[in-house]
Amino acid sequence: MNVTIIGTGYVGLVTGACFAEKGNKVLCVDIDEQKVKKMEQKIVPFYEPGLEELFIENIDKKRLLFTTSLEEGIKHSNIIFLCLPTPENEDGSADLSYIINLVKNLSKKITGYTIIINKSTVPVGTATKVKQILLDENISEDNFDVVSNPEFLKQGHAVVDFLESERVVIGTQSSKVIELLKELYLPFVKDEKDILIMDEFSSELTKYAANSFLATKITFMNEISNYCEKIGANIDHIREGIGMDSRIGNKFLYPGIGYGGSCFPKDVKALIRSGEEAGFNFNIIKAVDDINQNQKTVLVDKVLQHFNEDIADKKIALWGLSFKPETDDTREAPSHYIIEKLISLGVKNIVGFDPQAIQKTKSRFGDKIVYSSSKYEALNDADALLICTEWTDFKDINLNEIKKRMKQAILFDGRNLYDINKIKSEGDITYYPMGKNPINR
Ligand SMILES: NC(=O)c1ccc[n+]([C@@H]2O[C@H](COP(=O)([O-])OP(=O)(O)OC[C@H]3O[C@@H](n4cnc5c(N)ncnc54)[C@H](O)[C@@H]3O)[C@@H](O)[C@H]2O)c1
Repeated sequence: MNVTIIGTGYVGLVTGACFAEKGNKVLCVDIDEQKVKKMEQKIVPFYEPGLEELFIENIDKKRLLFTTSLEEGIKHSNIIFLCLPTPENEDGSADLSYIINLVKNLSKKITGYTIIINKSTVPVGTATKVKQILLDENISEDNFDVVSNPEFLKQGHAVVDFLESERVVIGTQSSKVIELLKELYLPFVKDEKDILIMDEFSSELTKYAANSFLATKITFMNEISNYCEKIGANIDHIREGIGMDSRIGNKFLYPGIGYGGSCFPKDVKALIRSGEEAGFNFNIIKAVDDINQNQKTVLVDKVLQHFNEDIADKKIALWGLSFKPETDDTREAPSHYIIEKLISLGVKNIVGFDPQAIQKTKSRFGDKIVYSSSKYEALNDADALLICTEWTDFKDINLNEIKKRMKQAILFDGRNLYDINKIKSEGDITYYPMGKNPINR
């Protein structure tokens, strides 16, 4: 099948490469000329495990192509996937301008029957808005279909998530489109039953419900973890104790320093706003949003308490700058909130290390902080180490190296990477985990 993808970010490029991998001929359109130039030179524009191999292989087989021209995209196929940004407006609602403007533009250029499939995360009613734009351009109802097809991939695991989709959600009433999309998606699911067909409203809401539920699960555990610290209970025991209940499940129960990234924070806010617009109050989700905001800087509160508020002259090292491991994405990363707060508290000596996200952190903080080229180098003469992202590389540590390099080994572990008994047996290390009693030397 010929397929056109508009927007080659984490969703668009992964979708395009995966469709191409199954033999489709995919043309990716992006407005960013530099990005398209890079991709034409076989350079993947961001870090995503497993993507480079698929990308190069399918470019070589001439099944994955790039352009900046929307006209070429329209000529290439009448199956057009929108994978455009839907960032947060100031009031928390989803900014639909990328989609609306693109569809307005597209509606002036299409000639024959076109299927517009929206993969971006958009509020309920967006498919209806898109249809109206096409009707306003005097395009006959028989000449288009607008479909909601939200994407559930996780950055850092996106290629596998797409190639082995747990489910595909398709919101449309058109049997013609259902047949076509089933044919396209069947190679990515175990069973045809994993392709869920529903109306556009339900499909659009499924994505927000999924992300808000996951954000709620994370936040719930963070609250229990914070309470554990107050009363001296151990979050690991509680996680096991509840996780073995099959109604609860054992995933996504790890405490941390809040969710970040380009999706959960904005999607939670957008659902709250959509509710308000419909005269509906999402009490739970509002609480989740508030709690998460505070959670992002709990490590700084612990640092302040440890040093009796006297931190301006301390050298503070951060391990992990991306919002989660296996990505270079720093959007809404807790580490960036931490850096922001440390700077506002007058800390002048902050050093950061990350296996992939230094460049993106540099473009935000410039020379306000120092960047290290290795995890151990970042610790030289440091007064405190804050672990913000659970990169595998950080799990494997040489405690002697840490003790040797830091002024005094004081670790604030926002991701519970280490066995507390091992740290205890080492001596000379002060260790603040999440949801457990600290080891204070
Ligand atoms: N990132 C994720 O993990 C993820 C997962 C599921 C859903 N989503 C949703 O998918 C959508 C896209 O997210 P993303 O992370 O891929 O975004 P992104 O910011 O990484 O990529 C968006 C791309 O669109 C391009 N673009 C902008 N305007 C354009 C235009 N007029 N024509 C062509 N290209 C244009 C940009 O240059 C960029 O390459 C969002 O709605 C997001 O919420 C994201």
